Amino acid sequence: MKLNPEQESILKGDNGRVMAMAMETVVKYGEAFGAKKLVPIKSAHLAGTFGIGPYRAYIQVLRQIVSEGLRVKVPTTVNPKPGYDLNFINRHIVFTNQQSLEQLLTAIGITPNYSCVCYEKANVPSFGDRLAWAESSAVQFANSVLGARTNRNSILIDVCCAITGFTPEFGYLLDAHRRGQILVKLNIKKMDAPALGYVLGRKVVDKVPVIEHYPFTRIELKNMGGSMAASGGVAMFHVEGLTPEAPDMKTVFDRPPMETITVTQEDLDALRIRKSEMSGIVIFGCPQMTCEETLAIAERFVNKRVEIPTWFCLAPDELTLFKAHYLYGKTLDAGITVSQDCPLAAFSMRLNRKRIITPSGKMLYYLKGVNYGTEDDCLRACGVLQ
Ligand code: F3S
Repeated sequence: MKLNPEQESILKGDNGRVMAMAMETVVKYGEAFGAKKLVPIKSAHLAGTFGIGPYRAYIQVLRQIVSEGLRVKVPTTVNPKPGYDLNFINRHIVFTNQQSLEQLLTAIGITPNYSCVCYEKANVPSFGDRLAWAESSAVQFANSVLGARTNRNSILIDVCCAITGFTPEFGYLLDAHRRGQILVKLNIKKMDAPALGYVLGRKVVDKVPVIEHYPFTRIELKNMGGSMAASGGVAMFHVEGLTPEAPDMKTVFDRPPMETITVTQEDLDALRIRKSEMSGIVIFGCPQMTCEETLAIAERFVNKRVEIPTWFCLAPDELTLFKAHYLYGKTLDAGITVSQDCPLAAFSMRLNRKRIITPSGKMLYYLKGVNYGTEDDCLRACGVLQ
């Protein structure tokens, strides 16, 4: 890899031992993927926000960074908190390093947004910006919907990029890897975007799918992308005539599609649980909900009362907006718990192993004891829709 004089000097140790180690990590990461150079980044997003035991080495690295007084070089946001206070087990057994981890993140200069939908307010990239983000759902949104450029970085690689301000140029930073590979046709009567994302992730795995035109909302794109990035390794998708790099099929494909697949209504419906009333908890918000998304769902709970525990999980800055709206009080009156945590982490060790129903394909993929339901299935499960 060819480094410029500034990068060479960091690697030699002119900015200290820990900075040199961070640079060496970024360089080796790039070399492993055939990158020819490092490029400056506009922002970073870190995924390591759960203070769990297996993150001991990660926390040790953060301590070393803090001990040399290093801070992030670019605006850097972080993923949600994991529900440390949700119950005794989370507090005393699972997330025992939570407080020290948060102190370290603060010390390196992160923006304390604690949200996986950072692209909504705290860290909004422009078209063409090069980034070093972790968190697969955020990566997916940045690449696909905003036209920014980031690979699916891991925890620690994200930190090393944020500290040095550089990322290796390979993969989704390059035009060649952002073009469509698989054409997706839809034979669907009722759109269920998270289910479509889940099905596509399983089918295309790590390719770039191009969905024929459908007028998805921004919220649908978020939830479809989050599911697709979990059930597959997808880092970018296009929607013909909707997402910025797919004005038409001719532009998005630079060669004939490797494959054409058709997703049917049956494919989507097959994910849904048949008896939604068998569920014990209902969870909305993975990826975390925006205020706009919450208001649309909250309308459906007005003057009703949930029959089983029901959670809304919002990004903290979106929750602030929601609290100012009259529907916030109505939501509490309906018996809903409103949270700012990552529900997947928060409920990973839930008591009684109660079955969860959720309209999140990401939770379905990662968490044991989870059923998938459409928004209406979830409303039926909590007793507010017949
Ligand atoms: Fe976000 Fe946690 Fe889901 S980080 S995407 S709410 S797993």
